[in-house]
Amino acid sequence: MAGNRADSVGDLMPRLERAVDFAADQVRRTIERHPNFFPIYTEGGRWKHRGELWTDWCGGFHAGMMWILAERTGEKFWRWMAEHYSRLLENRQHDREVHDLGFIFLNTYLPWYRHTGDERLRQVLITAGRTLAMRFNPRGQYLRSFLAPESLFIDIMMNVPIIFLAARESDDEALHELAAAHCRTTERTIVRPDGSTAHEGIFNPETGEFLRESTQQGLRADSTWSRGLAWSLYGFTTVYSYTNDPVDLAVAQRNADAFLTRCQNDPVPPWDFDVPEGPDRIPDSSAGAIAASGLWDLAAHCATEDPSAASRYRRGARAILDALCSDRFMAWSTPGWEGVLRRGVYHFHKKLGVDESVMWGEFFFLQAVDKVLRASGETAEYPRLSERS
Ligand code: GLY
Repeated sequence: MAGNRADSVGDLMPRLERAVDFAADQVRRTIERHPNFFPIYTEGGRWKHRGELWTDWCGGFHAGMMWILAERTGEKFWRWMAEHYSRLLENRQHDREVHDLGFIFLNTYLPWYRHTGDERLRQVLITAGRTLAMRFNPRGQYLRSFLAPESLFIDIMMNVPIIFLAARESDDEALHELAAAHCRTTERTIVRPDGSTAHEGIFNPETGEFLRESTQQGLRADSTWSRGLAWSLYGFTTVYSYTNDPVDLAVAQRNADAFLTRCQNDPVPPWDFDVPEGPDRIPDSSAGAIAASGLWDLAAHCATEDPSAASRYRRGARAILDALCSDRFMAWSTPGWEGVLRRGVYHFHKKLGVDESVMWGEFFFLQAVDKVLRASGETAEYPRLSERS
């Protein structure tokens, strides 16, 4: 990770605060310009366009930003909007077309439920977890991606926590075991010994046999799509908080060390670590934002057993945020740009959202900034949700 600049916390904090204010302004404008609309990626800095979605997976990020802002500010406006936009997503609890129900519900109904303890919200979370579990192939012991029965995506590691949550909330050991089996299959097939990851695993869905690594959004089957590695690092970290299984923690640490090693020259990775130098080697700010947020949580899990790893991960998270909170990435110096963070990449090959704002980048950036500010004590005066689980 380049330099030690990110250790100079005093310099970073005002920019993190400015970033939160800017994010609030941008989300508020998006609500005003495009009411009840869930953005996925910008085109030329504009959220609403005719570009293909590929898959409809991002509702929880827009609404999730409203929950973070509601929690930070205590403003009724944000709380009202957070509930309103979350409600618009409620029917997705039955959606069997996507593997993204964790992204949708863990960032919306989970904070809402934590805030209220409302049984109805808990049931939505349980249903969403059970719906996602229907993607399980018992022969291959994996949750299939939205794309095909033979396909497992690394992204699913960020969604499997909702199955663990549903299992815990309904005291269902078999459901917990199903989720754990998916994690073991992912680890065995597409997490490599050096901690890097393939985007996709291809199986024989009849026999369950693992056939090969593959990719949709990465450069090649055997390359490391940087966002995929960030999904794995954050996903296994969150899974560990449900399983307490040291194997999950060890995978997350392997992922984290692989990510940080590859980011030694620039804290914000290219969209695939293996893209050769040249015009196609463009950054994916969203991969940096996801990794920063995941590294921050991972540091908390390691703090007692491995304090030097914890400080490495915290340093890494701060270095990424330090880089992102600059004119190179922040849209605050680009008039008319509707997103917060520029220079994300959705799908390079399909030419969707390339060098644009992407909704998950917005969310995980705000989430990471919020975590670091909270840890600094800056937010002490803000009301916090009671942690019920
Ligand atoms: N489909 C999830 C992603 O683009 O990362």
